[in-house]
Amino acid sequence: MKILSIQSAVAYGHVGNSAAVFPLQRIGVEVLPVYTVNFSNHTGYGAWRGPMISPDDVREVITGIEERGVLGEIDVVLSGYQGGEGIADVILDAVARVKAANPAAVYACDPVMGNAKSGCFVAPAIPILLRERVVPAADLITPNQFELGFLTETEPGDLESTLASADRARQMGPRTVLVTSVERPERPEGTIEMLAVTDDGAWIVQTPHIPIKANGSGDVTAALFSAHFRATGDAADALARTTSSVFDLLTLTHGSGQRELQARGGAGVLRAPPDAVRSDPGSLSRTPCSTRVRVVRARDDDNPRWALAT
Ligand SMILES: Nc1ncnc2c1ncn2[C@@H]1O[C@H](COP(=O)(O)OP(=O)(O)OP(=O)(O)O)[C@@H](O)[C@H]1O
Ligand SMILES: [Mg+2]
Repeated sequence: MKILSIQSAVAYGHVGNSAAVFPLQRIGVEVLPVYTVNFSNHTGYGAWRGPMISPDDVREVITGIEERGVLGEIDVVLSGYQGGEGIADVILDAVARVKAANPAAVYACDPVMGNAKSGCFVAPAIPILLRERVVPAADLITPNQFELGFLTETEPGDLESTLASADRARQMGPRTVLVTSVERPERPEGTIEMLAVTDDGAWIVQTPHIPIKANGSGDVTAALFSAHFRATGDAADALARTTSSVFDLLTLTHGSGQRELQARGGAGVLRAPPDAVRSDPGSLSRTPCSTRVRVVRARDDDNPRWALAT
């Protein structure tokens, strides 16, 4: 599998392509990283150095790849944090060029805007741009619960309303929605969840909440889920594998005492993703690192409505 990943790069820490590339390579994906900035560190520090790469220069790099004749080999275009307004057009143009060369390619968009704790941390025009132009062109999106709310102009909270918001997002264009950092009021204390919704159903996974915030966890999540899901089309399996790897990286990070996400895969899960977890509706399954994937909605073929199996 080949992924064209249009994202930022930092020297210190792991966000954007600096978070996504190694985990993808570790699971056997050939990555074509295209950088949108080359910063010393992520902007959460309030200070950073290094250049933004102009949209024209980013487009030049993609044109250069096109001239090598390899756009038809790309399976996934992946995009994340957009530092400026100009980059969206470059990404959408790249998606159009890749799909023209390979109609089976998908566009996976991580609509980065902010999170429930920090609020919105991108330029004011970006969320609107994402909602109106970028997300409608995506096949798969990976918002956190806060971003899902903005995109759909809803307030996802409990399972029911988060599913409804994900369906609204699916009506905007993308068939597959992965909602990260789902913090349902009714979840067990000390846990955090992720919810995947596709045409075939909906699955939720729960892990312990580790008492850290490591920037880049969402970027690793978007990259791994996009790759696993594109490879198999199996959302439950992709959810289990992704959560296992991310949980392990965060456990490693927490134990290391470092403030930045540790993306070196030392704990082995990146090397050997756990076996797939497929649950029957309502059942619980475990992977080696305590992730649990549960079916929350399954298609009932005799009934055009969805059957809720909570
Ligand atoms: N403290 C944590 N404990 C356990 N799991 C976590 C924690 N933080 C993140 N995760 C896992 O990583 C997934 C993605 O992280 P998150 O939702 O924070 O991404 P994000 O909001 O895009 O953040 P960022 O862009 O800073 O990486 C979550 O759904 C969750 O499964
Ligand atoms: Mg994110």
